[in-house]
Amino acid sequence: MYNTIELQNKIKELKKEKDFCILAHAYQTQEITEIADFVGDSYGLSKQAQSSPQKNILMCGVRFMAETAKILSPEKKVYLSHRDAGCPMAEQLTYEELKGLKEKYKDAATVAYINTTAELKTLCDVCVTSASALEIVKKIPNKEILFIPDCNLGSWIEEQVPGKKFHFIKGGCPIHMKITYDDVERVREEYPDALLLVHPECIKEVTENADYAGSTTGILSYVEKSDAKKFVIGTDNSIVQHLQFSYPDKEFYPLSKRCICEDMRLTTLVDVYNCLRGYCGEEITMPDDLRIKAKKAIDAMIQYGG
Ligand code: 13P
Ligand code: SF4
Repeated sequence: MYNTIELQNKIKELKKEKDFCILAHAYQTQEITEIADFVGDSYGLSKQAQSSPQKNILMCGVRFMAETAKILSPEKKVYLSHRDAGCPMAEQLTYEELKGLKEKYKDAATVAYINTTAELKTLCDVCVTSASALEIVKKIPNKEILFIPDCNLGSWIEEQVPGKKFHFIKGGCPIHMKITYDDVERVREEYPDALLLVHPECIKEVTENADYAGSTTGILSYVEKSDAKKFVIGTDNSIVQHLQFSYPDKEFYPLSKRCICEDMRLTTLVDVYNCLRGYCGEEITMPDDLRIKAKKAIDAMIQYGG
């Protein structure tokens, strides 16, 4: 039996010995982000998957993130840290349903939030992440946008890109959608001098009443640059913990105690250790034709996104 620090040291030795790059989404726990080679939001993770020199990638996050890494780096072995870690939003639309929507909105560019399956990506013109969506949608020449599956992120973009017509489905993140306008009213009363920073997966009544809306990395860098002393955070509550650890002289509060992504929480340090030893996790494989078709939308994201 190892204690946490011993286990982290074993992981650091093993990842070198076995030529692994460990990528961790910012929603992972502190003990995992500490042993990662890169920690970031979905956009940063996609770019890092492409540029890391190691032969193997271990993605500590959810399935669509590991799939994206595999699509971008087919020559590498890519593993997902916990086989059950999925994103419920990625499966809110079927392949056939999306085909039907594309038929209906023939002139629209199909823009997919990266939180989608590889199969859905094959039908899309471009993927976006919360960090890159605004910049990318502004550059798309089409006047009409079919934005799937997150209608909250989609309408947040729509508000900032006048002149384009958006079509949505009723999709969204079940975790961020637990945050209500009542939560905003409560924290404004409880912490009147705090800034409210939220993820654009929150419902409109929340984002439009926040001081800032942006990706997980966007929220982290907003705090880094701000002189304010108190913040309320409207995204997965791991970010509240990470921020409190990084800035002990400032105060951070969750907008809602319910905003915890169970899928992101599945991976433990022991899973990481066992994955590196070949005992758990899942190697991501996919047929070449699926990968090549899905890659077009991700390549377009990286090209547009810079
Ligand atoms: P980011 O793009 O901010 O990493 O968001 C991904 C995600 O799943 C948030 O719920
Ligand atoms: Fe998916 Fe929401 Fe979890 Fe992000 S927080 S991985 S969008 S379920």
